[in-house]
Amino acid sequence: MRILGIETSCDETSLALIEAKGTPHNPHFRVIKNIVSSQIKIHAPFGGVVPNLAKREHLKNLPLLWKRIKEKGAGKKEKKTLVPTPYFPLPAINLITVTVGPGLEPALWTGITFAQKLQKEYEEMSGKKVPLVGANHLEGHVYSFLLPKQNSKFVVRNSDMFPAISLLVSGGHTILLLVKDLYHWKKIGETRDDAVGEAFDKVARILGFSYPGGPEIEKHSAQGNPCAIEFPRPMIDQKNYDFSFSGLKTAVLYFLREKKNGIGNIEYGISNKPTFKIRDVAASFQSAALDVLVKKTIRAAREFGAKSIMLSGGVASNKTLRKMLQREAKKIGTQFIAPEKEYNTDNAAMIAVAGYMSILRKTPRKKYRLEAQGNLNI
Ligand code: KG4
Ligand code: ZN
Repeated sequence: MRILGIETSCDETSLALIEAKGTPHNPHFRVIKNIVSSQIKIHAPFGGVVPNLAKREHLKNLPLLWKRIKEKGAGKKEKKTLVPTPYFPLPAINLITVTVGPGLEPALWTGITFAQKLQKEYEEMSGKKVPLVGANHLEGHVYSFLLPKQNSKFVVRNSDMFPAISLLVSGGHTILLLVKDLYHWKKIGETRDDAVGEAFDKVARILGFSYPGGPEIEKHSAQGNPCAIEFPRPMIDQKNYDFSFSGLKTAVLYFLREKKNGIGNIEYGISNKPTFKIRDVAASFQSAALDVLVKKTIRAAREFGAKSIMLSGGVASNKTLRKMLQREAKKIGTQFIAPEKEYNTDNAAMIAVAGYMSILRKTPRKKYRLEAQGNLNI
């Protein structure tokens, strides 16, 4: 089964060609091509993603990426892709999947319309309809651990990993799932206000770092002292699995405002310059945010007897978070599973997997109908 994935929910335009085999409970994937075109530079001056700019860029990028998928198809072995098939000169595929939500609606529509156009092109070429299905972006993140590195062999995963606790941490979401198997899960907690990635982005902005803030905070934190400032760890001891990050962001804002206004003058030297270090603020913020994520995830893993802890989403790129979770998971005898680096942030390979898995799960098609569903849930 060869699947084309299309992702345009936020500020990355991405197309991927993957191959699936195996059984429903033991699927293996191979990533032939996963091309991501990031719009970070375009949105950076605005400190965040501007929906209409994102739409304009997706419209511009999609045909360019499609051309690259067609031309290169995928390395030497994949020359076959372009040999005559019913679809020639289009690459042979069995399924098209496109993100229908959650995300920015103008951006989502560009992907959906593009997918529909491609489907028509294939039909005109062969007289046969290639199925087109909508995919849930969040499921894409959750399934991203199933993907091997681009151009490597099919990977067979250890199937003894359930029940699992899956922590999805991105710019728009912070969700904790109890995963019974590859097709069944229950949301046990989520953020009540800002997503953790959003908090990283906002705090980075307050500290004068560029967008996206997560990688910047991580970089500066590496030189800073995480114990320098004791920021609050919201909801850390509450017996639920929900999160809250907006109070932590405000605490950083107030800390800086207070210091800069000279309240608590001891922080100022003779030169009248604040004596705290920005890198210590970054490290202390990061430490507070990650402590909450790790503590609540580990508590959930213990309570539900999880055999594994899965991590996904853009914030999963954070090496400190990975290390902390890995260390704590080991202490309770639980496996730690994270995606290959290239699949943490938004990409179409994970969307191809999500679309494929949603067919195997027999998800009612109207749930992931081909319309932009900005607030689609998991
Ligand atoms: O999953 P993603 O690419 O897009 C969404 O679906 O939201 O996640 C992007 C988020 C941004 O908020 C970004 O700041 C954060 O992931 N991020 C990080 C790191 N790299 C990306 N946060 C913390 N540490 C990082 N190294
Ligand atoms: Zn995402």
